[in-house]
Amino acid sequence: MYCYRNVTEDLFWVGGNDRRLALFENIHPLYHGVSYNAYVLLDEKTVLIDTVDWAIGRQFVENVTAVLGGRPLDYLLINHVEPDHAAAIEEILLRWPKVKLITTPKAVILLNQFGFAIEPEQIEEVREGDTRCFGKHTVTFIEAPMVHWPEAMVTFDLTNGALFSADAFGSFRSLDGKLFADEFDFDREWIDDARRYYTNIVGKYGVPVQALLKKAAGIVNDIKFICPLHGPVWRKDFGYLLDKYQHWSTYEPEETGVMIVYASMYGGTERTAEVLAAKLAERGVLNTRMYDVSSTHVSYLISDLFKYSHLVLASVTYNLGIFPPMHNFLADMKALNLQNRTCAIIENGSWAIRSGTLMREELEKLKHMEVLDESVTLASSLRTQNLTDLDALADALAASVKKEG
Ligand code: FEO
Repeated sequence: MYCYRNVTEDLFWVGGNDRRLALFENIHPLYHGVSYNAYVLLDEKTVLIDTVDWAIGRQFVENVTAVLGGRPLDYLLINHVEPDHAAAIEEILLRWPKVKLITTPKAVILLNQFGFAIEPEQIEEVREGDTRCFGKHTVTFIEAPMVHWPEAMVTFDLTNGALFSADAFGSFRSLDGKLFADEFDFDREWIDDARRYYTNIVGKYGVPVQALLKKAAGIVNDIKFICPLHGPVWRKDFGYLLDKYQHWSTYEPEETGVMIVYASMYGGTERTAEVLAAKLAERGVLNTRMYDVSSTHVSYLISDLFKYSHLVLASVTYNLGIFPPMHNFLADMKALNLQNRTCAIIENGSWAIRSGTLMREELEKLKHMEVLDESVTLASSLRTQNLTDLDALADALAASVKKEG
């Protein structure tokens, strides 16, 4: 049975939800599912805007068929060809073989690489600033390279103000019958999933996202709907969403606060992190979060690191190096271009203690990272002789937080 929703009178959401997928891109855990969004515009011509992951292919085809109501499908407009959106293209071609594809030249290359059998005469290549008229509706195309792949574009409907934004403004989490962001308490229910999606999927590409935001600034007053490929459709509160994107894409923290991430084998490092958090609270620093790096998927750590201004890394030394999950966290920070944070270090080891030096070296490879001079070196566990250094570290962190706050 079909399950679609109206965005406007003649624009329909025809996507679906996947709550069975354990790992998005086979790497990021999903606990609340994900939606794959696609849209149908019913004008003098009919237009399908993007497709979906094959996991929901049958639901998608039922939705498109129901919305078309027996009309042929004239156009398939492809903004992004990553298979979570492009996997159903071939099924669309089989069911509506006369459909014309509208997409970028780079997308055509990728479609061929993924093995889609598309006749060249079926494809209309478009570039930035081109327009297409489907009857009442005229759309224009805005290239959005590296948001999140090189071929990506966004499409703006000049008639109804709908921005089909591809991966931009997307989010993890299934829609559960709702469609619009204002049908949720987004800031309570969704923002963490939206942040984890952005930071882990698009986080590396802050500069291209900034370029897209600058292009969008020229039409921002004309945007009435933001229709991403994942998550809810936006029809109000654009300022809230754009403010989040501004922070994330410039690597500016959303909040002044301290994230403490520890790597502990037998509890010595963990207890030190606990004592530090208590000392921070005593100094009035209450916006703190603690994570065990071994039991927290790195995508959550990255997400919160984009949120908070300060980071404490506390790690045991392991095989003369950084404890591997902590090393992985540091590698992910580098891969995702994380920058502009104030950091502090606690190192531990029962002999040949090196994790602090090595973590400092890794942090110094990132841009605009300040590593506080105050640090703590533990030999196996926190003892009385370490408390002076731990107090100095808490003082330095609290002073830095208060300065930024
Ligand atoms: Fe949801 Fe880059 O695809």
